[in-house]
Amino acid sequence: MSTRPDIKPANPCFSSGPTSKRPGWSLSNLKTDSLGRSHRAKGAKARISQVIEDSKALLGMPEDYLLGIVPASDTGAFEMAMWTMLGARGIDVAAWESFGQGWVTDIQKQLKLDDVRLLSAPYGQLPDLEEAGTDRDLVFTWNGTTSGVCVPDAGFISSEREGLTFCDATSAVFAMDLPWDKLDVVTWSWQKVMGGEAAHGMLALSPRAVERLESYTPAWPLPKIFRLTKGGSLQRDIFSGSTINTPSLLAVEDQLDALAWGQQIGGLSALIKRSQANLTAVAAWVEMRDWIDFLAEDPATRSSTSICLKIIDPWFQQQDQAALIKQMVAMLETEQVAYDIGSYRDAPPGLRIWGGATVETADIEALLPWLDWAFGELKG
Ligand SMILES: Cc1ncc(COP(=O)(O)O)c(C=O)c1O
Repeated sequence: MSTRPDIKPANPCFSSGPTSKRPGWSLSNLKTDSLGRSHRAKGAKARISQVIEDSKALLGMPEDYLLGIVPASDTGAFEMAMWTMLGARGIDVAAWESFGQGWVTDIQKQLKLDDVRLLSAPYGQLPDLEEAGTDRDLVFTWNGTTSGVCVPDAGFISSEREGLTFCDATSAVFAMDLPWDKLDVVTWSWQKVMGGEAAHGMLALSPRAVERLESYTPAWPLPKIFRLTKGGSLQRDIFSGSTINTPSLLAVEDQLDALAWGQQIGGLSALIKRSQANLTAVAAWVEMRDWIDFLAEDPATRSSTSICLKIIDPWFQQQDQAALIKQMVAMLETEQVAYDIGSYRDAPPGLRIWGGATVETADIEALLPWLDWAFGELKG
């Protein structure tokens, strides 16, 4: 039996998306002038393009990259990229958890592309990314949100590559260093590291990605919300705030608030530092425990955002693990110390604690003894 801790996290929001709002967030801080106006009106459009400008500035994105706001969150942005640009050459697709696997399914079963090589690994591991061919397109996820395994760097991507790299970076961007020169297509959503509202996706394109869009026409039809070109030319106004369809202007204001907070606390390096501190706190605690461990086998691949843990206690191995995790998560929610920390539905039973920049390390530190307590209560 474990003792019941006295201190609770001030903020029990540890979900991996939507994630916790930033410290000090309040609905009343958001500007509302653009609400109720057309998103094409001058003022409203200026706010939309401000999201693009502020995101580029905070991330230090190269000047010659384009960034657009597109429909349907990260999924919309990534699908849009795959459906408009894949098929021009062979594809290597790396998958090591549920979301990466989802892109594999779409490439093989929906786009029905056949020159596809799969680089796969089980939960907890990374595939051998060095096998990716430089003359082929490469599709991968920077941070596997459901396994807590991320690529440690982009050493596996050649600067001399002929193919394009497509990177789903939704749970990495703003918390991990992304080497833009190695990434041609990068996507994310607002409700991850910056704690924004879900709805829209961000699509970043390198000059080489733009070249692909303007020189290659896929053999399949594209719905309106995927169309990035017109008459063979990129619709450049999408990348300055003329969205394809109507965005939520409230979500836009919320994202601007989050981006301003990021700049105000010290920019990208401060955001990365906050996330790293969360991982460090969990790692120090795991190190001292024999009942729990990281799902990521190699410490270099441990995610600082979606921190995934597995229970290694021999007693636990003999039980209905999924049921016990459900119970543990429910106990922690009832105590109001942690919300939504069960592992993803397709992942091995375990815990997943969001450690992105909006989460305070003090809250992570306050949570950890509660995990000891909950596990102790279950084991009896
Ligand atoms: C790696 C990854 N890709 C895609 C998605 C889907 O994102 P969205 O719900 O923003 O479309 C998620 C959501 O958690 C994710 O973690």
